[in-house]
This record gives sequence, C-alpha cells and structure tokens, in this order.
Amino acid sequence: MRPGGPDPVIVVTRRWPAPVEQELARRFAQVRFNPDDTPLGADGLRAALAEADVVLPTVSDRLPAEFFDGEPRTRFLGNYGVGFNHIAVDAAAKAGIVVTNTPGVLTDTTADTAMTLLLMVARRAGEGEREVRAGRWTGWRPTHLMGADVTGKTLGILGMGRIGGAVARRAHFGFGMPVVFYDAADAEPRHGIPDAHRVGTIEEMLEAADFVSLHMPGGGGNTHLIDAGRLARMKPTAFLVNSSRGDVVDTDALVAALRSHTIAGAGLDVYEGEPEVPAALRELDNAVLLPHLGSATLETRTAMGMLVLDNLQAFLDGRQPPCRVA
Ligand code: DGY
Repeated sequence: MRPGGPDPVIVVTRRWPAPVEQELARRFAQVRFNPDDTPLGADGLRAALAEADVVLPTVSDRLPAEFFDGEPRTRFLGNYGVGFNHIAVDAAAKAGIVVTNTPGVLTDTTADTAMTLLLMVARRAGEGEREVRAGRWTGWRPTHLMGADVTGKTLGILGMGRIGGAVARRAHFGFGMPVVFYDAADAEPRHGIPDAHRVGTIEEMLEAADFVSLHMPGGGGNTHLIDAGRLARMKPTAFLVNSSRGDVVDTDALVAALRSHTIAGAGLDVYEGEPEVPAALRELDNAVLLPHLGSATLETRTAMGMLVLDNLQAFLDGRQPPCRVA
C-alpha cells in the first residue's frame, strides 16, 4: 500500500459510534466493520494483520510481539484510544507498521470519570444505590452510610499529564483540594494550579494524600507500581482511584488492603484481566467498580473515532499522522 494507491482494505475491530462508521464508509470502499461487536480474538486479529492494509484496534484487542512476526500485510494500526500498552509497538514498528493513538480528545471526559469514582467511593454511593435497588433502605437516620468529606482534602496525583492535570484542576478549583503530585518527567506540570506541590517520590505523595488518583500508562515498569508496600504507605482513611490501566495496581494486594482497612476504599474503572473482575473485589463494599467507561460519552467516543480517521488520512496522504506513537 502506498500514498495515493488503491483503496486500502480496512478492518475495524469493534463497533464504533455511527457517525464515525458512516464517515469511514463514505471515504473508503473496502471497510470490514464488526456489526456484532464480537471481539476478534487472537485468531481474528492475526487474520486481520495478514489480510488488511489497515487495522483499527482498541484496548480489548491484545496485539503481542509475536503477532508481528512474518510479513504482516498491515501497514497502519490506528488505535482507538489513548492508551496503547495492549500493542507491542516496538515489534509493530520493526515490522514497518505505523501506529497512532487518540490523545487529547478524551481528557476531560476521563477526568470526569475519575472524579465520579472519587466522589462515589468517598460518599458510599455504590453501597447506597445497591441498598435502594434491593429494597433494603429503611429510612433516614443520623448514622446511615456515613462517608468521608471531599472538600478541602488533599488530592495526590500519580502522573501529572493531560488527564492527571484535568483531575487536579477539577478537584482543586471545584472542591478546594490541595494537590500533591509525583511525575517522573522533568518538566514542572502544574496545570495552572500555582501551589500544586511536587514531591520527589511516590511514597511521599501516598503519605500526604487523602485521595490518590492514578494516571500512568500501563505495562512495562508501571505494572504493579502500586503494590502492597505502597498501599501500606497510604493513610488508613485514604481512598485510591484508578482510571488509568488495571495492571498499575497489584489487585491481590489491593483486595488485601481493602479487606484489612489498610486503606478506606477504592474506585476502579480498569482491571488487570478485564473484563474479568475477581470475585474477591466484587464482594467488597468499600470498592466502587465501573466497567472501563472513562471516555464513554457519545461526544468523546465520536471525537476519538474522527481522530483515528485524521491519523489514517494523513498516513494515506503521505503526511505524518498527528498522533503517531511508532
Ligand atoms: C483509552 O483511551 O486509553 C481508554 O482507556 C480506552 O482504550
């Protein structure tokens, strides 16, 4: 496949919002959509790499290094999503494949989800909802479902990038929360919060925070970054929020910390082996569990798809895709 060459064969691995699918169909003649939205699985993904010029995957499609052995036909992988740790990008690049993602357009929506988790876990909203739906609510009383205040509490951010910064702004300017953050990058990313306090170690941030929100990419050295030792550094009254990638937290250690009240609670949108969520976690009332819906609004999911199209169009026109990661 070359710029200006014949119409590429394009595989879209999952259902996308209708306006984006319509736009793809309008621009390209050979698009293979997935009307059933059934995950392609390993065999389907291997077949896609062998048969299509362009594959448009997302987080539910695992593309490990061995999938890029041999000579895949695919020249372009346009990931629908900002996180791309499900793709072995070095192996893809070695096989001559350009890889792109969708940063920026989902920042606010994902930050809203982190705040949703933070508020829900602090105010025991999941427990309350379950009680009402089960017909178990017996009425107002002074000691019923007492949670923790959010306003004025300290927010700890791990990873002060686009989404971490957007969460920090919401918490600081909306809820008067002082912000303490750890970020390994050299730049000083305060995101317009003049007194955001940068600390030199993850431990310092964990010890200072009443709420800890994780905003690190998954995979590599970030796997189990939050382990038993680090959970033990948090205050017993503190809450952990994870809307980044499940593997950043050691699930077994988290379950143990929630059971023993080493920490007060956790709000999770992502899981190590998703969509599997361990029963041990599902049984815990001090965990709020969402099904990886961080960026799930019609507006944002449409914008993500349109950004995949921008990346693809640039590649096909022989330009540098705006969001190239490999
Ligand atoms: C993202 O954009 O990374 C979302 O988590 C979905 O992949």
